[in-house]
Amino acid sequence: MDLMEKVTSLCKRRGFVFQGSEIYGGFGGFWDFGPLGVAVKNNIKNLWWRYFVTVREDVFGLDSAIIMNPKVWEASGHTGSGFADPLRECRKCHHRHRQDDLVEDKCPDCGGELTEEKKFNILVKTYIGPVEDQSCLTYLRGETAQAIFVNLQNILDTFHPRLPFGIAQIGKAFRNEITPGKFLFRSREFEQMELEYFVKPADDQRQFNQWKDYCLKFLQVVGYKKGNLRYFDHPKEKLSHYSKGTTDIEYNFPFGWAELWGIARRADFDLTQHAKFSGKKLLYQDLVTNEMISPYVIEPSVGVDRLFMSLLLDAYTEEGKRTFLKLSPLISPYNVAVFPLVANKEELVKTAREIYLNLKKHFSASWDERGNIGKRYCAQDEIGTPWCVTIDYATLEDGTVTVRDRDTTKQERVKADNLEKYFKDKLKERIL
Ligand code: GAP
Repeated sequence: MDLMEKVTSLCKRRGFVFQGSEIYGGFGGFWDFGPLGVAVKNNIKNLWWRYFVTVREDVFGLDSAIIMNPKVWEASGHTGSGFADPLRECRKCHHRHRQDDLVEDKCPDCGGELTEEKKFNILVKTYIGPVEDQSCLTYLRGETAQAIFVNLQNILDTFHPRLPFGIAQIGKAFRNEITPGKFLFRSREFEQMELEYFVKPADDQRQFNQWKDYCLKFLQVVGYKKGNLRYFDHPKEKLSHYSKGTTDIEYNFPFGWAELWGIARRADFDLTQHAKFSGKKLLYQDLVTNEMISPYVIEPSVGVDRLFMSLLLDAYTEEGKRTFLKLSPLISPYNVAVFPLVANKEELVKTAREIYLNLKKHFSASWDERGNIGKRYCAQDEIGTPWCVTIDYATLEDGTVTVRDRDTTKQERVKADNLEKYFKDKLKERIL
């Protein structure tokens, strides 16, 4: 089994990710997150929010509607050829393939001849209103970014920020991808974490460089292996329709280096377009010079699901007979697991439950009393739990417990009363 298969199968077996609509044979490009998956996803989103919104003075949060006035997507260029995949259809089996997925000039499924390239728009259509015709046609958002642009004036009017400042949002995006695949890498429903950072035009390049650094630093906090991340500058001729320059942070996936995080210089493309289509002036007035400015925008944009998958791939470790997810404790589904040494000694179980319930007030904690200790360690290693606490006979005598570390398998005795501080200190070490 290669790494992709190992991680995909672990995700299903241990309740991280299930195929969407599985009992009906699935539905390509849609995934459901199980209890452990949702825990990891929430940790990723909370950490991002903390780094990109909470600790900063200059970023405002937003949670906008998924469905917007269809004019938004006309203005942004998404209904046109800018948001379309170049496709070629096989004349024999009629399967469609993205041009950029093709290695040879024939159908990868049956070897048949391919048609010329055609553009296929990937916005997901829906109807809002009483009839299903053009008058009620709209779209599920293809990116979260547009809602930020159309709310700029609201943020200016209510918070009066000064340039530079940003608006951040986490939310679902939908794309009718022609070839969803590579597990969560390319799906049709996914979540994005996006920031639009508004700057004075002259400050654009400097801010762009700063945000590239900041995003990489965030990934270092999250804890990737050295050498698995790199910058990739998009060549001018391959830039998206809105971009004046884009650098990706790429991850070294098992199928090759590929985009994890895009950092784009959108200049004033979006604001100018929305001003034109809405008839509203989307300008910022400089408080000192009174000059009206059309701000430029730096956009760091990353997919939660793609980040999730890369983190699990990166963390997957085999050492001898042991398999474990070397996930940062800031990301792992549980911070700690608690076990009584044996399940049939009432006194041990009672003390262990007290310790567990107390830890649960401060951390995400898991309880396990099945099988022997060795098996329980294995089960926790496989889902990435960084620390296991065992309550044994010595606990009843001197109030200490065993804390076992996932990465080193080393064990130490810690006073049960000190556990809260012990784990809080350990988690603090991880935050830069
Ligand atoms: N607002 C800019 C924007 O949407 P993008 O490069 O199309 O740019 C940004 O998407 C990020 O969203 C990507 O770097 C990737 O992490 C994630 N993403 C894009 N399409 C995706 C898909 N089909 N499935 C999963 N994640 C996707």
